[in-house]
Amino acid sequence: MHKLAQLDRRYVWHPFTQMRDWERAEPIVLVRGKGAMLEDAQGKKYLDGNASIWTNLHGHNHPKLNRAIERQLKQVAHTSALGLANKPASLLAEKLVKGAGCPLKKVFFSDDGSTALEVALKMAYEFTRRTGRSRAPRFLSLDGAYHGDTIGATSLGHIDLFHKSYSGLLFKSDKVAAPACYRCPFNRAKPQRRDARLYAKCNHECATQVEQKLERRKYAALVVEPRVQGAAGMVMHPPGWLKRVAAAARASGALLIADEVMTGFGRTGKVFAGGKEKVVPDLLCLAKGMTGGYLPMAATLTTQSVYNAFLGEYEEFKTFFHGHSYTGNQLGAAAALASWGLLHQPKAKVRRKAMERVLEHELDSLWALAAVGDVRREGLVVGVELVADWKTRRAFALKDRAGFSVCEAMARRGVLTRPIGNVIPLLPPYCTTDAQLRRMVRVLRESIVEVLGARQV
Ligand SMILES: Cc1ncc(COP(=O)(O)O)c(C=O)c1O
Repeated sequence: MHKLAQLDRRYVWHPFTQMRDWERAEPIVLVRGKGAMLEDAQGKKYLDGNASIWTNLHGHNHPKLNRAIERQLKQVAHTSALGLANKPASLLAEKLVKGAGCPLKKVFFSDDGSTALEVALKMAYEFTRRTGRSRAPRFLSLDGAYHGDTIGATSLGHIDLFHKSYSGLLFKSDKVAAPACYRCPFNRAKPQRRDARLYAKCNHECATQVEQKLERRKYAALVVEPRVQGAAGMVMHPPGWLKRVAAAARASGALLIADEVMTGFGRTGKVFAGGKEKVVPDLLCLAKGMTGGYLPMAATLTTQSVYNAFLGEYEEFKTFFHGHSYTGNQLGAAAALASWGLLHQPKAKVRRKAMERVLEHELDSLWALAAVGDVRREGLVVGVELVADWKTRRAFALKDRAGFSVCEAMARRGVLTRPIGNVIPLLPPYCTTDAQLRRMVRVLRESIVEVLGARQV
């Protein structure tokens, strides 16, 4: 075993990982990257099939991002945002506000997706109390929601596997059905293949449930992952659902918190997924891709009216009492500015559209496999759901480890991604070539065949 792998096994505890399993195999130790490729300590090369857990936008070792960080490093790496301003954070805040659109006006920086959500929920909670709407406001979020792992963000989540054991630590938030078309409880998704066309015909019964919930209680906010619920299994929402629930939240007086930690920065085809339905939330949470996947940095954008609720004389103590040591980090902000520039290059937008077309074409071949139940795509987010029986949509039991085994087989063939239960996500970095995209899907197909068989429908 490689020396670095031994060190890892001896000392490192990995996130969301059963360490007994981990200790049985030699870990992949990544040592360098270039574009969409990563290389391990043994010299084996891999395609980064999930953009390093949905963070990387423009590829690894990008010369422009490297230069931006190096330039900033020669000035200063980090200064505190507590009582002090800095250049890249101010420039970045302006870009984000202008890019996100009205009514978002203010940016509060933090460190990662979870803290972006903590900030949003504390702001929404206090805003709701201060405006007299409710003294003990609650939050409404979706079944299958995942908003991070800090206690506040976990409280907004509704994936039992992740959240149940901590229930005693969490505050109560209400749950409402999410649009999950492939397993639609309203029986809209008939047992046929390629049901996407059928989804469009539904009347968004699941949105009606959200509307009813919002009518019944004065919520501080409705929290959604716009258009795609990532950790729920790359579950894509039918067009129109977001607009309808956003309008319902507004009508009820609740704020809308959009968690675009995964969907932000071009992933779904627009800079922000809400833009696909012209929905601008009251609080917008950004992280992951913000620095191009280089450095941990996050932002919560909000409106003038939420901001105003925290204004007052010093001794009134209406201050937003929240902050982190690395809030507004200068290196992170410099990387984010460079990444924003790359994202908005006209040729980059054209390229992302072309990538979508290549993916769509390649993914088509997966429908023939009996072990594939659903192939979902929104922009450059793909979820391939593996099933024990495609006719009944019966899922594999988690203990069968179908998703894990397929991803292990993919890694052996040189493509890295991480399963979400029985769903295999593909989120290519935006620099991935057509040949690499084709290879990604071919490797997925071969790995499904190796692990689950070649039976066709
Ligand atoms: C939608 C969403 N929100 C929040 C988070 C938490 O982000 P982080 O892991 O950076 O804390 C994630 C992470 O996957 C996410 O997908």
